[in-house]
Amino acid sequence: MKTPNRILVVDDKEYNRELMEAILSPQGYEVFLAADGVEALDTVAQILPDLVMLDVMMPVMDGFQVARQLKAHEETRGIPIVMVTALKDVTDRVNALEAGADDFLSKPVERIEVLARVRSLLKVKQYNDQTRRYQKELEEQVQLKTEQLRATLRNLQQATLETIYRLSRAAEYKDEDTHAHLFRMSHYAAAVARRLGHSSEQTRALLYAAPMHDVGKIGIPERILLKPGKLDAQEWDTMKKHTTIGVKILEGSQNDLMQLAEVIAHSHHEKWDGSGYPRGLAGEDIPIVGRISAIADVFDALTSKRPYKEPFSIEKSFSIIREGHGNHFDPLVVDAFFDISDEILEIKARFSDEHIEGIEDFVAALGKWG
Ligand SMILES: [Fe+2]
Repeated sequence: MKTPNRILVVDDKEYNRELMEAILSPQGYEVFLAADGVEALDTVAQILPDLVMLDVMMPVMDGFQVARQLKAHEETRGIPIVMVTALKDVTDRVNALEAGADDFLSKPVERIEVLARVRSLLKVKQYNDQTRRYQKELEEQVQLKTEQLRATLRNLQQATLETIYRLSRAAEYKDEDTHAHLFRMSHYAAAVARRLGHSSEQTRALLYAAPMHDVGKIGIPERILLKPGKLDAQEWDTMKKHTTIGVKILEGSQNDLMQLAEVIAHSHHEKWDGSGYPRGLAGEDIPIVGRISAIADVFDALTSKRPYKEPFSIEKSFSIIREGHGNHFDPLVVDAFFDISDEILEIKARFSDEHIEGIEDFVAALGKWG
């Protein structure tokens, strides 16, 4: 059964309240009565009526004030108000409209007129309620879909990062490098890029793509990768191929990150003076991400244990990097690196070989960057 509409009648005169109740109750409306403005607001808060019939002239708080209060609050704004007034003055009507009245009735009230007004306002209220409910439902649906989309994106991002990690690990697996190298190298590179003024999107892309710089090592024999002594000329030529093998693995992708990884794999062993490999590019012909990755990769190699060497001290490593200013490395990149040397050392401490567990750490470390 449909719940009856609730109508609150507010009037300081008992006779008027009873008259209104006598008109409305037989029509099936549930009628509530209030003798002044304060009582009216209390009742509204309790029952949230569908309509308020409001006398204008009342002691303590008049009808204008009550109307203003009702229209000022979100929960009660939609309740239609009929001002019941003996005043025929235009100014009063304007005041009532300004206070938020939706309609008027003149005293003495006529039964037929009361019922006609009430019905039409209740219809409008019902329509407005429906529209509001529909709008709310839509908003909730949009919010739900947005959250689902966000979760999917997070998932996708996680999958991408995990793929990067596993691909990079595949290459490192043959090497003696610990996977902490991937964290440190990519974070050094991103920190330097940020210092050089790269946007946060570019910096983040570099952070994600840099771990794949040595992916081509997967194609290099272990006897060369793990050789404790110096490589002979032929072995060295083979070793250099990890850059172009990396390109072969990464090339042809439509994905921005993979394209960036390809550029890094190709260019991270180029040197500023043109003496690097595989293409012998010089200066700004070397992609900036390659110039940045070079310093990040070399600094980590210097400060880490390798098959052919013990880790160098920070001081010695810093001085080797400094010596590379303008010959091995882009001078501006070296300057940026030393500008943030504290941050570089923080990254080194944060991703020490003992502290890094695996994939969760990797995804978390990349995800938190910003
Ligand atoms: Fe490399």
